[in-house]
Amino acid sequence: MRGWIAGAMMMVVPVTGQPDTSNPSGGLKSLPEPAETGDVSVEAALWQRRSVRSYSDEPLTLQEIAQLLWSAQGISDREQGLRTSPSAGATYPLEVDVLVTGVPELDDGIYRYLPEEHGLELRVPGDRRGALQDAAFGQTAIGNAPVVMVMSGVTQRTARRYGARAERYVHMEAGHAAQNVYLQGVALDIGGVVIGAFRDDRVSAALRLDRSEEPLYLMPLGRPR
Ligand SMILES: Cc1cc2nc3c(=O)[nH]c(=O)nc-3n(C[C@H](O)[C@H](O)[C@H](O)COP(=O)(O)O)c2cc1C
Repeated sequence: MRGWIAGAMMMVVPVTGQPDTSNPSGGLKSLPEPAETGDVSVEAALWQRRSVRSYSDEPLTLQEIAQLLWSAQGISDREQGLRTSPSAGATYPLEVDVLVTGVPELDDGIYRYLPEEHGLELRVPGDRRGALQDAAFGQTAIGNAPVVMVMSGVTQRTARRYGARAERYVHMEAGHAAQNVYLQGVALDIGGVVIGAFRDDRVSAALRLDRSEEPLYLMPLGRPR
């Protein structure tokens, strides 16, 4: 049995490439535009993908965080509003938050990714990795990672169209998004691991999630040590 099983306000950042300083009291923080090409093929990324649970102390850059967020839920078709991950009926039930530390352009805190704006909105100030690690039965990957991505699902969005099947659809979608992040991470030399073993109520409290938002995956990310 794996060790991890046994152990079982608002401010926004925009898409123009430069942090938005025009609205310092609140609102959107823009993210750098995602890259459209890279040096690592899909085949190479598939060969190299592994779960990584130990990271160097070096923070990730805003550009890297933006790319990882875009790979999870970013807009890839502006005309139709379609995203990098497939979604049942394009109902897009996933919300993506990131715990960020050590990034010069951002205060430490928990931010919500806004796909349409390709921006960030501050939800909880400060370093909350300790609370999240506690919520995940002490899994050290969380406390050591400079960035932790959290994927949550709002099942009602999909249930309006698909009824009881929505629950499974939302879980499937978290898998699609997480695999995108794994593969994008390989291309950027960033490692991570999907974590499903945690106490929902504690994760929700640490992130101040809405009652409709069910945490599905925690994904610590950093440069492999
Ligand atoms: C649904 C799911 C839940 C997982 N939960 C955890 C977890 O809580 N902690 C952890 O360290 N790894 C977790 N993993 C990662 C697996 O342990 C890992 O994918 C597996 O050992 C295979 O290794 P690989 O990803 O390097 O190929 C989870 C994976 C999946 C798919």
